[in-house]
Amino acid sequence: MKLTVIGAGYVGLVTAAVFSDFGHAVSAIQINPLKLSLLRRGEVPFFEPGLSEVITRNMKDGRLTFTDSYKEGVNGAEVVFICVGTPSSDDGSVDLSYVYKASEMLAPFLGKEAVVVVKSTVPPGTAQKVAEIIGQKTKEKFYIASCPEFLREGSALSDSLCPDRIIIGVDCDKAKEVLLELHKHVNGERIVTDVASAQMIKYASNAFLAMKISFANSIARVSDLVGLDVEAVLKGVGTDSRIGKKFLLPGVGYGGSCFPKDVKGLMRFSSDKGFRFGLLEETESLNKDQTAWSIRAITSLLGGKIRGKRVAVLGLAFKPNTDDLREAPSLPIISYLLDKGAVVSCYDPVAMDHAGKLLKKVRFGKDAYDVCKDADILVLVTEWNEFKELTMKRIKKLMKQPLIFDGRNVYDKNHLTELGFTYKGIGK
Ligand code: UDX
Repeated sequence: MKLTVIGAGYVGLVTAAVFSDFGHAVSAIQINPLKLSLLRRGEVPFFEPGLSEVITRNMKDGRLTFTDSYKEGVNGAEVVFICVGTPSSDDGSVDLSYVYKASEMLAPFLGKEAVVVVKSTVPPGTAQKVAEIIGQKTKEKFYIASCPEFLREGSALSDSLCPDRIIIGVDCDKAKEVLLELHKHVNGERIVTDVASAQMIKYASNAFLAMKISFANSIARVSDLVGLDVEAVLKGVGTDSRIGKKFLLPGVGYGGSCFPKDVKGLMRFSSDKGFRFGLLEETESLNKDQTAWSIRAITSLLGGKIRGKRVAVLGLAFKPNTDDLREAPSLPIISYLLDKGAVVSCYDPVAMDHAGKLLKKVRFGKDAYDVCKDADILVLVTEWNEFKELTMKRIKKLMKQPLIFDGRNVYDKNHLTELGFTYKGIGK
């Protein structure tokens, strides 16, 4: 099939990579000149394991091309994916301007009976507006569909190739047929639904996972107060197959480009329709409080005095295997410490370039050991694998005082205590 992908960010680029790898001819539209020139050289503008290999392979074989021209990109396409960003507006509503702009731009070049698939996360009802916008600019018959994306940064390719489910949101048989055929090599249960329900599935899924994390964080907080080990508690809870172990790991709070935005988006959508989604209000506020609690725990480990203290921070990205810093808990934690007069040294395997633009007064080290030199406290924020097996005896020798705040429960408390560290984890 000839496919067009509008927007070459995370979702768009992975979609383009996966479908071109299945042998389809994919044209991806990127209007940012800098990013376009990078992509044309086969360079991915962000860190995602394995993605650049798939992209360069398919570019070389001529199945994947990049353009900034809607005419060139959309002409002759049987399926057009809209994968542009849907950020939060200041009032918490979803900013759909990029989706509407893309709809307007693609419309004049749409071929006969093309299927326009909204992959961007949008509130139910958006498809109607998209259809109206396109309808004003074309006389061709077209179909609107929704296939929400569930990929996680850091494991985007495997999530796209083997998702738990493929949601096919369609309002007619023709679009259903085309999309089932297109996804035939993707492993995962197919769920065919109407367009608006498909969009609700995406919001409800992300909001539920965010809520599950806030729940785990709350159990960690109570466990902390009464001296229980939250890991044992949540293992016992998650083993119930109705609950599940995944997304039940407490930490310094969830971040990223989706959970915070989609929780807000669903809250706002619900209240606009007449339902106050109190559960999500609490999910969001617990998440903020989890980061604030982490800051209080660090302060308390330092005896209440932050000024002049040297803090070693391990991990900056909102999760491992990405260089994404959007809504990363590391940012408020570090900003607070800097504000209170701490000297902060950070290390992250891939996010330091981005962080350098946001954190001006921080020193970036060359590895975990480097930032621990003379540190008063080690703060682990992101659980990169390379932090899990550090030689802690060496770390202790390097540090001024052996204090650890383990924001992701990576380390063994008993082992570190035996080595002479004062250890604080999340609910341990
Ligand atoms: C999420 C959804 O998982 C994905 O389906 C959707 O398409 C996009 O949003 P992503 O934001 O890439 O993916 O990462 P994810 O692995 O979901 O983690 C989000 C945040 O939750 C991270 O900050 C992570 O550290 C945190 N998290 C995750 C926890 O604190 N505890 C957990 O148990 C799991």
